[in-house]
Amino acid sequence: MHDFHYHNDALFCEDVPLERLAKEQGTPCYLYSHATLTRHFQAFDQAFASVPHLIAFAMKANSNLAILRLMASLGSGADIVSGGELFRALQAGIPANKIVFAGVGKSPEEIAYALDSDILLFNVESAAELQAINDVARGKGARARVALRVNPDIDPMTHPYITTGLKKSKFGIGADRALEEFTKAAALPNVEVIGVHAHIGSQLTQVSPFVDSLKKVVGLIETLKEQGIPIRYLNIGGGLGITYSDETPPHPTEYADAITPLLEAAQCEIIMEPGRVITGNAGVMLTRVLYIKETGTKNFAIVDAAMNDLLRPSLYEAHHDILPVRQVPNASTAVFDVVGPVCESGDFLAQNRTLPVVKAGDLLAVMSAGAYGFAMASNYNSRPRTSEIMVKGGESFVIRERETFEDLVRGERIPAFLEAKV
Ligand code: LLP
Repeated sequence: MHDFHYHNDALFCEDVPLERLAKEQGTPCYLYSHATLTRHFQAFDQAFASVPHLIAFAMKANSNLAILRLMASLGSGADIVSGGELFRALQAGIPANKIVFAGVGKSPEEIAYALDSDILLFNVESAAELQAINDVARGKGARARVALRVNPDIDPMTHPYITTGLKKSKFGIGADRALEEFTKAAALPNVEVIGVHAHIGSQLTQVSPFVDSLKKVVGLIETLKEQGIPIRYLNIGGGLGITYSDETPPHPTEYADAITPLLEAAQCEIIMEPGRVITGNAGVMLTRVLYIKETGTKNFAIVDAAMNDLLRPSLYEAHHDILPVRQVPNASTAVFDVVGPVCESGDFLAQNRTLPVVKAGDLLAVMSAGAYGFAMASNYNSRPRTSEIMVKGGESFVIRERETFEDLVRGERIPAFLEAKV
């Protein structure tokens, strides 16, 4: 459920018509509903009310400071994957003791920054990284709290690019070697092993892979206990999918009902790292049609947003619903490729999509763009990144300004030997 709906044929975000936002803020831009974000977080939180838990919002899905501040105000922590994300999380007011740090390639500088910030724990992805964390902690006379990320070798049945828990994947420590690595880790003087982490993939639409993965992980926790390595935190990762078109992912309560018995058996504090399910359907990208181009074989709706603004269709052939901001009752339909101005054939937001007939100047809302939308935007083709707007009731707030051309060249230098050349 989200808060984008038609009222007298005009699309609204909460109580604000998107036409007004386009006029005031220009296009393309990202819009987020405060009410949807809040409700999604609370629904997830309440679903797990019966187990002691911390939600560490996976901020790679959406790392805007205002969104993070909202998450913090709702009690969320953060799952981070870089020094930059740590900086953002702290800037937004997420308490360090609610921050967990995953990722296969943490640099010594990032490890030091996280230790200095006193984050809750590192999710360690390899024996080599564990050693590096131990070394950095030793240099500081500190003891790093860690969880080892295990790779349970479970197929999450999702897109291969967002599958992370298979044996062939770069993530985590193979389940077959986990006991050995935990034993080694427990013997290291400058780390304290307090958790087990598993994240098997993203956009999962069934509960069974979560259940299968957790069974393995809970079995491991029991074995570790027997071996004298008590585990305080079980981090179950993120991955719960959303409806982009006709998927029927489990509601957070169904997900919780399916796994709570396993969580209770683990007798740990539970950490969870949802990203997409919190922000995905809470955001849209608003874009305007620049031109219609009919080639005889195709109808192209050329819009002012492109793959640099929303990469998911190009990268994963992901489906995002596209809605007209002004509905015309009984409008005739046609099949369009909705494409952007970037010089790549892969620059599309939708292909062969049946839409109500659109014309130049029309506004379109690209739905379900609140997760991995702006977060994956780039400046390719020297396109300034869009603004981001949060809507709350009848008000709207710019939470990120549109970039300027000056922003595009900030930090670039022409060396002296080239200066005289023009
Ligand atoms: N925890 C870890 C360790 C992760 O790697 C991820 C996502 C999450 C949590 C959050 O997963 P979520 O609840 O959002 O599914 N760019 C892709 C998604 C990449 C996901 C990467 N890791 C997309 O646009 O679909």
